[in-house]
Amino acid sequence: MKKGKTPPEQPAAADAAPKDKPAKPQLRRKAAPESNIIAALDIGSSKICCFIAEMRPHGGIEVIGIGHQASRGVKAGTIVDLKAVETAISHAVESAEMMASRQLQGQPIRSVYALVPGVHTKSHQMSVNVKISGHEVSDRDVQGALAHSRGAVQHGRDELVHVIAAGYALDGQRGINDPRGMTGQSLDVLLSPVTAQSTSLRNITAALHQNHLEVDGFCAAPYAAGLATLVEDEKDLGCTVIDMGGGTTSIAVFAQGKLIYSAAIPVGGNHVTSDIARGLTTSVADAERIKTLYGAAHATSTDDGALIDVPPIGEEEPLQPNYIPKSLLVGIIQPRIEETFELVRAKLVDNGINQIAGRRVVLTGGASQLPGLCDIGQLILDKQIRLGRPQRLRGLAEATGGPAFAACAGLLTYAAEHAMDETPRTAQSYNFALPFALHGAFQGNMLQKVTSWLKENW
Ligand SMILES: Nc1ncnc2c1ncn2[C@@H]1O[C@H](COP(=O)(O)OP(=O)(O)OP(=O)(O)O)[C@@H](O)[C@H]1O
Ligand SMILES: [Mg+2]
Repeated sequence: MKKGKTPPEQPAAADAAPKDKPAKPQLRRKAAPESNIIAALDIGSSKICCFIAEMRPHGGIEVIGIGHQASRGVKAGTIVDLKAVETAISHAVESAEMMASRQLQGQPIRSVYALVPGVHTKSHQMSVNVKISGHEVSDRDVQGALAHSRGAVQHGRDELVHVIAAGYALDGQRGINDPRGMTGQSLDVLLSPVTAQSTSLRNITAALHQNHLEVDGFCAAPYAAGLATLVEDEKDLGCTVIDMGGGTTSIAVFAQGKLIYSAAIPVGGNHVTSDIARGLTTSVADAERIKTLYGAAHATSTDDGALIDVPPIGEEEPLQPNYIPKSLLVGIIQPRIEETFELVRAKLVDNGINQIAGRRVVLTGGASQLPGLCDIGQLILDKQIRLGRPQRLRGLAEATGGPAFAACAGLLTYAAEHAMDETPRTAQSYNFALPFALHGAFQGNMLQKVTSWLKENW
């Protein structure tokens, strides 16, 4: 719900509601709650959650409604059953609305910001040259450079999700934080746009429309996880956030306060659960319970003595307990965790971003709660690691203030920053200096240039 935006009379998707679904009441929100309320939705592989928040007049965000549901119809970040997702969304949103009903004056929300899973996004880097010709650099110059990037990255099946000005050079002088008001001849704007597969955006939009919800904006999940968990110094000095979810692990690299790279791998905590279920021949539900109660990423000296009762699959009431040593459980978990960190390291190294990413990592996401994870990560990534949970938001309870909710909390921060945005004006005189895509056909050469550009700036 953008600030000052007049709600349309009729939700666009109302006509598309399925016949067998009870129609939601028509939304006729009064102006007052509309103006300062934002909502965020995370359609994850393990859970679907909705946060509704109030933006305070003097800054700050207060969460006033929370709803979450076990996810249905999502595999490794991809919607595989639209109907199941729609139903789970409706339950999560309705719970959040109920909790916020006083501030919403009993009205349902009519639009949300939505996360795009990292596995459906691509991180790009490009430099746009803007001719200043002796004038002061204006906001229009900067906004125009951002707008111009749209045409360069938005092609084929990809759509621009957001673009961040990651750095500036004025007449060759690099390391400028904000060039506005400065005078020069030529401005280079280093941009880090993020695109997403249009199919993914379309499916999320369709699931929301079926719930009579419009999309206020999309945000890449790894970026949101960083916004929620990193402190300013970490973002400035260079830091990588790793969000270990159920079906995916997302990576976002920040430097000089800005996102400069993001990626994801289709491996998460659910793979650990499946490994346990297979390795101990128990059900997925029991494997999940055993993992959260007794699981660890690496062995300790007491593991051999500790015994765990593992119910055999298919036996409702086993005649006798089936004890296994904890070391057997850890022996199943550890290789998958090592593989996950190795895949993360490969992403950073192969894309030439490992050095720029700094020596600090923040681990978040539901799967980051496995004891011993930091030790393994530290060894494989050769970086200092801390666990991260959402910061900056008021109103999050203990249960919903944990790492599994980091990306959804970060989405609220993103939403609050963009609630007042207007579409950037497109300037005419922008001249592409170096359009690079990290995933382009000439990745090696392009990446080399991007890496040196980054190295000179960070
Ligand atoms: N205490 C715990 N210890 C270990 N793992 C846990 C714990 N609690 C939750 N998990 C794991 O966290 C994962 C879910 O994390 P999260 O809620 O962040 O996923 P998601 O956002 O729905 O998924 P994704 O981001 O991959 O689409 C599951 O694999 C679950 O087993
Ligand atoms: Mg997630």
